[in-house]
Amino acid sequence: MKFIILSTILAFGLVSARPSFEERSIPAWHPPTRGDLRSPCPGLNTLANHGLLPRDGNNLRRAVVVDALKTGYNFDDALANGLFETGLTTNPEPNATWFSLEHLNTHGIIEHDASLSRADAYTGNNHAFNPSIFAQTSKYWTGATLTPTTMAYARIARELDSKVFNPEYAFDASREIQAWGESAIFTAALGNIQEGTADKNIVEYFFKKERLPVALGWKKQAVPVQNSDLAHITNLIGNVTGSVPVLLTPSENPLRSRGLHGLGV
Ligand code: HEM
Repeated sequence: MKFIILSTILAFGLVSARPSFEERSIPAWHPPTRGDLRSPCPGLNTLANHGLLPRDGNNLRRAVVVDALKTGYNFDDALANGLFETGLTTNPEPNATWFSLEHLNTHGIIEHDASLSRADAYTGNNHAFNPSIFAQTSKYWTGATLTPTTMAYARIARELDSKVFNPEYAFDASREIQAWGESAIFTAALGNIQEGTADKNIVEYFFKKERLPVALGWKKQAVPVQNSDLAHITNLIGNVTGSVPVLLTPSENPLRSRGLHGLGV
């Protein structure tokens, strides 16, 4: 009898210790090593840390980026290709067919002030995860679930902080839409698209570790994520407050300011 109980416990232990299907289908996570390029984008850094993008963060070409966005987050073809094309705009070479994670650091193309987890370019480092900046954001994500309301409040808080403390602060109305889109994109990848909500623990894990939150029970969306999903969540967030005029600055180069996480949708 004792043997049966013990073997049942052992068997159960072995079964539950096996990695889930999600874990097995995603290459192992490693933090970046010396010389690896990383960006202000937690979504792409995560894919590089899992080896779905080249771990060195360099030479990101269309096929590899589109495939990584599908495998990692189940983004559909149109969304993945659109995001790749936005990334391309940061490579200064004419007619470039690739970009690196470091290209994304260039201030004023996609990268902007008042990020949720990065300091402003004015401070000298606009790309590394910054725990004190992220703590400010996270303070406004009250409750166990992020909602369009708390996402909008966290954005306003970051914009006010940058406006007050960054003498070079630049943030116009189209940056605002882009920035709502950045909250929309992590919600689309990690949370509930229809409601525009996401579990705070999962979101914090993703930002802080730049790792797919499989260990917390996260699974990529069952249905491919589309541009319209991003637009839907962006609208939910934007509808909470709209742009707050006092937080905006005069227009930057309009060709460089795009909507929806850089997508001109
Ligand atoms: C080819 C695809 C992508 C490109 C080129 C890209 C590029 C960028 C860039 C340049 C930024 C910096 C903006 C800033 O200054 O705050 C950024 C921010 C961000 N990205 Fe991406 N991204 C891509 C895909 C993704 C994906 C798939 C996710 C989520 C799963 C994601 C989530 C975010 C978030 C949440 C931010 C805001 C970070 C913050 O405010 O601190 N991105 N992205």
